[in-house]
Amino acid sequence: AAAAQAADHPHRPVTVAHRGASAYAPENTVAAVDAAHRMGVAWVENDVQRTKDGKLIVMHDTTLNRTTNVEELYPDRAPWKISDFTLGEIEKLDAGSWFDAKFKGERVPTLERYMDAVSHNDQKLLMELKSPELYPGIEAQILRQLKEEGWLDRQHVKHRLVLQSFNGDSVKKVHELRPALKTGFLGTPAIADLPKYAKFTDQINPSYKTIDMAYVSAVHAFQGAHGRPLEVYTWTVNDAPTAKKVASWGVDGIITNAPDVVRNALKDS
Ligand code: G3P
Ligand code: CA
Repeated sequence: AAAAQAADHPHRPVTVAHRGASAYAPENTVAAVDAAHRMGVAWVENDVQRTKDGKLIVMHDTTLNRTTNVEELYPDRAPWKISDFTLGEIEKLDAGSWFDAKFKGERVPTLERYMDAVSHNDQKLLMELKSPELYPGIEAQILRQLKEEGWLDRQHVKHRLVLQSFNGDSVKKVHELRPALKTGFLGTPAIADLPKYAKFTDQINPSYKTIDMAYVSAVHAFQGAHGRPLEVYTWTVNDAPTAKKVASWGVDGIITNAPDVVRNALKDS
């Protein structure tokens, strides 16, 4: 019965472009946001961290060397931690060439620049606080910036914005600072621990490799912080068979580098 119920799940999962449409453009750049937009994908996921001089930028790794030419420009600054570089230094980096020569000159976006692109495209944002334990106070700082960008109005808070983290304390802090905001916890808590998370989250967002249909159903049975069933957004699903499988489990969102692949896979579901 549980299987039939999940297979008949009335809602097709939402597709979220992971780090933007990162199979097609350099991750966490404006180019990746725009690539998702051209595919008609409303939701983008990003990762936010902080520079040495306290500015918020969008990048996944806590170091700059995988996704920029930092080693070339600053050879003596290993291990190239974001927190050891000023925004001025980071803005000199090329964040596109490593992916494909045609993206040469793409920059590491400030959060402000990134949000401008998302707003301009009328997209929605699943924002990750990446390694927030490295950046004390980043929760309040992000909320201040969201407010400045006009992203804490009713419309955005209700329909267009979710803040998530692997760091449960950080998610809890965001919820306490701004209770109206939707939040997600990245990970796969034991079912017995879900009531604890449900007090401050709306979503439980696990790797698809760690879950099954029973887990998704178990999460849905709890009410989240805003009184609706806890949702499941799973990552990172980049192929059609996996997309179909997790959709049949009843997940609410699929986070993917290749939103076109996921969308095509779910077309007839
Ligand atoms: O949004 C889910 C996913 O981004 C979590 O993993 O390492 O890509 O940030 P990671
Ligand atoms: Ca992420």
